[in-house]
Amino acid sequence: MLLILLGVAYDVGITTEYLSNLLEVLVSTMDIIRVVDVHKIYRLGSIEIHALRGVSFSVRRGEFLCIMGPSGSGKTTLLNIIGALDRPSKGSVIVDGRDITKLGERELTEFRLRKVGFVFQFYNLIPVLTALENVELPMALAGIPRRERRERARYLLRLVGLEDRMDHRPDELSGGEQQRVAIARALANSPSIILADEPTGDLDSETSMRVLKVFRGVSKEEKVTLIVATHDPLVTGYADRILYLRDGKIQGEKLVERGEQ
Ligand SMILES: Nc1ncnc2c1ncn2[C@@H]1O[C@H](COP(=O)(O)OP(=O)(O)OP(=O)(O)O)[C@@H](O)[C@H]1O
Ligand SMILES: [Mg+2]
Repeated sequence: MLLILLGVAYDVGITTEYLSNLLEVLVSTMDIIRVVDVHKIYRLGSIEIHALRGVSFSVRRGEFLCIMGPSGSGKTTLLNIIGALDRPSKGSVIVDGRDITKLGERELTEFRLRKVGFVFQFYNLIPVLTALENVELPMALAGIPRRERRERARYLLRLVGLEDRMDHRPDELSGGEQQRVAIARALANSPSIILADEPTGDLDSETSMRVLKVFRGVSKEEKVTLIVATHDPLVTGYADRILYLRDGKIQGEKLVERGEQ
């Protein structure tokens, strides 16, 4: 009898362990990013600026999340921390199950190069390189052979609708085209996350819409998780969810219901 009971308990033990592992795997596939109680205090001499005051949220894999908030609310600070360009003063950021706030310098460089792609307001393209070469650059840094990176750069530029602008330098492209090159470049090393800080901040509304459609299209095509920080209300029409940030705190969130754009 005891033996049978022990056997059952053993079985149950295995099952519990199995279930908890399964649960962990399921959770990790659902949430690619977990931001947990993140604080950021900037110190300027004797002045302290509390830019983030206990921010927590999760982002699902493949989600297009928009972070909205007034100037100074902490959007850039938050993106920089998620992209490991900066460390929080307190709290953690779990990306794919790893706490990136605990990584060493070498791991951080690797994380920034392969796991995330950045898109900024002013494109940050290298002026002397063509669109194609700009997109190839992160792949060259990652040691991808020349032929392979050229092929992928061409594919990505086609994806953002710039097949006939590949050999143009940034000053031979419009603002919207430059931003699309920046998006293609951000996708170069197949990151799982793209972080964009005011990507439409310097564009007129029609061009912004085109850029946002490209964002949405490539995030589905390449299955990347997209976080866009912005003031621009246009962005909210393309996102799956909006987080509202104010004075370094999350004020609320909204799920966007809409048909396909
Ligand atoms: N390097 C820094 N040193 C000191 N204070 C900083 C630094 N960076 C940002 N801050 C301050 O932290 C707060 C949040 O700044 P942050 O740049 O994250 O805001 P934001 O929401 O991106 O604003 P914007 O919409 O104007 O880009 C602001 O009060 C800002 O002045
Ligand atoms: Mg900002």
